Amino acid sequence: MWFNKCRLISGTCRNVIRRSVSTWESSFLRYAEHGDPAKVLRLETEQLSQNLFPSHVAVKFLASPINPADINTVQGVYAIKPPLPSVGGSEGVAEVIAVGAGVADIKVGDRVIPANPATGTWRTYSVVPQENLLKIPADLPIAQAATLAVNPCTAYRMLHDFASLRPGDVVVQNGANSAVGQAVIQIAAHNKWKTINIIRDRPNKADVAQQLASLGATYVITDADFKRSQLIEDLPKARVGFNCVGGKAVSDLIKILEPGATLVTYGGMSKQPMIVPTTAMIFKDIILCGFWMTRYNSEVSLEARSEMLDSVVAIMKAGKLQPPLLEPVLLKDFRGAMERSQEGFVGRKQLLVMDDSVFSQVKKDMGDLQDRCT
Ligand SMILES: NC(=O)c1ccc[n+]([C@@H]2O[C@H](COP(=O)([O-])OP(=O)(O)OC[C@H]3O[C@@H](n4cnc5c(N)ncnc54)[C@H](OP(=O)(O)O)[C@@H]3O)[C@@H](O)[C@H]2O)c1
Repeated sequence: MWFNKCRLISGTCRNVIRRSVSTWESSFLRYAEHGDPAKVLRLETEQLSQNLFPSHVAVKFLASPINPADINTVQGVYAIKPPLPSVGGSEGVAEVIAVGAGVADIKVGDRVIPANPATGTWRTYSVVPQENLLKIPADLPIAQAATLAVNPCTAYRMLHDFASLRPGDVVVQNGANSAVGQAVIQIAAHNKWKTINIIRDRPNKADVAQQLASLGATYVITDADFKRSQLIEDLPKARVGFNCVGGKAVSDLIKILEPGATLVTYGGMSKQPMIVPTTAMIFKDIILCGFWMTRYNSEVSLEARSEMLDSVVAIMKAGKLQPPLLEPVLLKDFRGAMERSQEGFVGRKQLLVMDDSVFSQVKKDMGDLQDRCT
């Protein structure tokens, strides 16, 4: 009986093959072992059947950034470890190109982002269950849409969830020129909260300070300025601080916090353990805590996530929140982009774009956004 059934299935399969199913050819960056992304990622292709399950959606990816967490995931040192082999990339924007017969809420032409982390967004096409996608406004520029889900939402949550800020209140952050840092500056300015922004010392620090000021930064200082105790003394004190660096940068940042303030750690770019002075805990009663966007997303309802995305998109559409400085790179040129995304002092996030037409559109979007937001 079982044998007969098998024969029947294999007969059916032969028929299907003979009918030659139409396919999309998808290219993707896959790693079969952990290591340096520039070395372990391979550009591969597969054929995706155009016969969709009723609940499935086919998408064409447009662009996907290279975030530090993506690099760490490929290296095998991040908190999320997808099974090997795996496709890299965690956020990005895609356009819907076909939907299964049972899909009602998503239609061809919609723009979508992944609902879950580390699903492998460094690819050109994908076919996924509809619940794996979140719809976003189709008129959001690609550069903004591709970088919406992780960094601006992290900035938004940290600014809203750890202190009840009033207009004029002060926030301090290190890694201020990061994508998260740039979003913190803009969302804070939008709410009339002041920001003290710490960057690493560098020859072009005046240029970086000017760029951050153009986003609305109130003060920009460098880690070297902490040697000038009077300058630090004269700064207003912050009610909340955001740390994505670790090491000594934490004890510096604490100098700018007011007593009882909260320090939120959300990254560790220096790869150094945090240095926290004992006095900060005893005499300033500083509260130390962490934030992880992935955990937040997994703990709240879909409605709460949609509400957050709507709020962030509304700030973008008001021209008050532009994406970080981006360097678009074609998917096929990924190796250089992977290398560059691991260098310090680069000043631009690498954005993988999936084809030439998207590349031109992203370049145009970035020019338009610059004009609209300055
Ligand atoms: N917890 C969460 O949910 C969450 C969400 C989003 C991001 N993050 C984390 O936030 C951090 C920033 O992410 P992003 O995408 O905004 O970054 P990004 O735009 O790629 O920029 C990287 C930042 O890290 C700084 N940096 C690089 N190497 C450094 C080092 N050795 N010491 C000190 N600073 C260094 C860079 O400053 P220079 O210009 O001086 O090199 C730049 O400010 C990362 O750690 C990321 O994993 C966490």
